Amino acid sequence: MSTETFTTEEIAPDTSGSVSVLLRFLREVPILRALTIPNAIGGIITAAGYQAFVWMSGKLAECQSGACEGLEYLEKLRLPLSLSSLAGVALVVFLCRLVQWVVFESGSQLASQGLFRRMIHGVGHVRTTFFDEYPSGKIINRLAKDSDQLRVFAPIRLGDATSAIIELLIVAGIIAVASPLAALVVIPAFGSFLYIQRNIAPMLQRAMTLRSIRFGEVLHRESDVIEGVRSFELYSSLPALFGRLSQAMYAYMQMHFLRGRIEAWGRFWADIMVAVYGSLTLVAVYVGIHYGELSAVFGVVIMTATFRLGALFGWLTWSLGLLFESAGHARRVFEYVDLPTEETEEGIRPPKTLGLITDNDGDLSFTNYTMSYRQNTPEILQNLTVRIARHSKVGLVGRTGAGKTSLVQSLFRMVYVRDGDIRIGGQSLFHLPVEEARSFFAIIPQDPYLFEGTVRSNLDRYDEWSDSDLSDTLAKVQLSLQLSLEIKEGGTNLSLGQRQLLCLARVLLSKRPFVIMDEPTSGVDTITDSIMQNVLRTHLADRTILTIAHRLDTLTHMDRIIELRDGAIARDGHPASIIPLLTEAELA
Ligand SMILES: Nc1ncnc2c1ncn2[C@@H]1O[C@H](COP(=O)(O)OP(=O)(O)OP(=O)(O)O)[C@@H](O)[C@H]1O
Ligand SMILES: [Mg+2]
Repeated sequence: MSTETFTTEEIAPDTSGSVSVLLRFLREVPILRALTIPNAIGGIITAAGYQAFVWMSGKLAECQSGACEGLEYLEKLRLPLSLSSLAGVALVVFLCRLVQWVVFESGSQLASQGLFRRMIHGVGHVRTTFFDEYPSGKIINRLAKDSDQLRVFAPIRLGDATSAIIELLIVAGIIAVASPLAALVVIPAFGSFLYIQRNIAPMLQRAMTLRSIRFGEVLHRESDVIEGVRSFELYSSLPALFGRLSQAMYAYMQMHFLRGRIEAWGRFWADIMVAVYGSLTLVAVYVGIHYGELSAVFGVVIMTATFRLGALFGWLTWSLGLLFESAGHARRVFEYVDLPTEETEEGIRPPKTLGLITDNDGDLSFTNYTMSYRQNTPEILQNLTVRIARHSKVGLVGRTGAGKTSLVQSLFRMVYVRDGDIRIGGQSLFHLPVEEARSFFAIIPQDPYLFEGTVRSNLDRYDEWSDSDLSDTLAKVQLSLQLSLEIKEGGTNLSLGQRQLLCLARVLLSKRPFVIMDEPTSGVDTITDSIMQNVLRTHLADRTILTIAHRLDTLTHMDRIIELRDGAIARDGHPASIIPLLTEAELA
């Protein structure tokens, strides 16, 4: 991953190691591994049954023409050589196939669903900057398409490939027993088949990985169209927006056709090999019959087996190709399963201190704290040392890019720590599991996002409060909304002010000791603003509040103002002494 750029291009990795990726897939889905055994047994019964069917048909034909060797043997086995016994064998073969399908293929599809959960877990615990680097379309592509391809198709392909290999070996074995001469022909056939596979599998896999990557690009462009259509329409530039989408679609289709071409190329050579092999076996059978070393029935068995072998080579080429294609999807799924966690990526941890201080609601202090957004990108906050007293109300100001949001992200442990420490009441945030460290802070974002549902479900996600508690809280923030009012995705049916007040109500309920407010630069009316200030002074008097402020009015209500400049503290003091010094730019 490049550290210079903020977006990361997906690349198609080297295709070596596909077998180990597939083995890992088997290893990590134990039920699938267990199901491979009945699948293999099913394959053996099917293959042997099929050949027995052919042999018995030949024998039946032979008996009907008078010369019936071996009938006594069959009678001894109590297997009357008749049409009904043939039908019986056919039925066994059919049932075996059916059971194989139901048990192996559907069972293992269910079993591999667990991988999807692990993938979601991987993405859920990755550092948040990961989402800056990968556009959502690409992430969705992996979560939806790659994982689905792996879940649905990999077991089927694995089952098909194993059955095909087993059947191939059995048929080759039967040919070898029937005529050693014909068996000699099988060896070069196998050799050339393996040669074709060795060439085709990596090509197919690479084409498929590229196709997946390009499909991610299509999804990315599609979300661009959805998000950006209004702005592009305003500037009458819709063709440019759609142009980008169709370019991505074209690149995707190119890979789609490339895959078809590679497959056709493989099939062409497999067909040639089968034709050559079939002709050679025919010669071997002819010679065998001519010199009386082979009965006509065995000749039929060998020739049918040869045709079967030809079909099996075709089937195996097809299923191995698809299986290696699945290896490409598996590789992409495992990349997400293996994503490093936030804590692993956070960087150097501050040294452990002795004696934990249990006062979670104490002063908040930064000591020589330095952070960046990536391991090798410039430091944003540098050597920051500041102490914020318990229950104080602090306004944070500074020009755009000064580091205000970075400071908040640092509290939520979403950045890369270069040095220093952040403590609450003496307890280092970095000595706690990340979820616990975050649980100290409640946030009212600049542009709050509400979830689709009701006012109630947005206020009380875990159904912890009674309706009257919730209504009382809404009354405190002077929001006259019914608890049952439906909220659209993102909260688009509420105004910015209403969304902020709803967030404020959520903060009141949360009882978290620290409240961080990111004040909107515009869009909130003075009434909403004064409600918020009032709630801060009354209902949130017993919490420590950090407000990224853009209005002088807000600042006058604070106990203290900290001005950041280039990631360091430029001014710090009482509003009365700082406000007169602030320019408009510093309130950006
Ligand atoms: N996700 C990110 N990845 C890399 N660099 C970032 C990221 N977010 C911010 N930065 C950089 O960090 C610096 C400080 O940005 P920050 O967002 O903290 O400023 P701010 O004070 O919140 O500005 P604003 O008032 O415009 O919101 C900027 O130089 C910015 O380019
Ligand atoms: Mg900001």
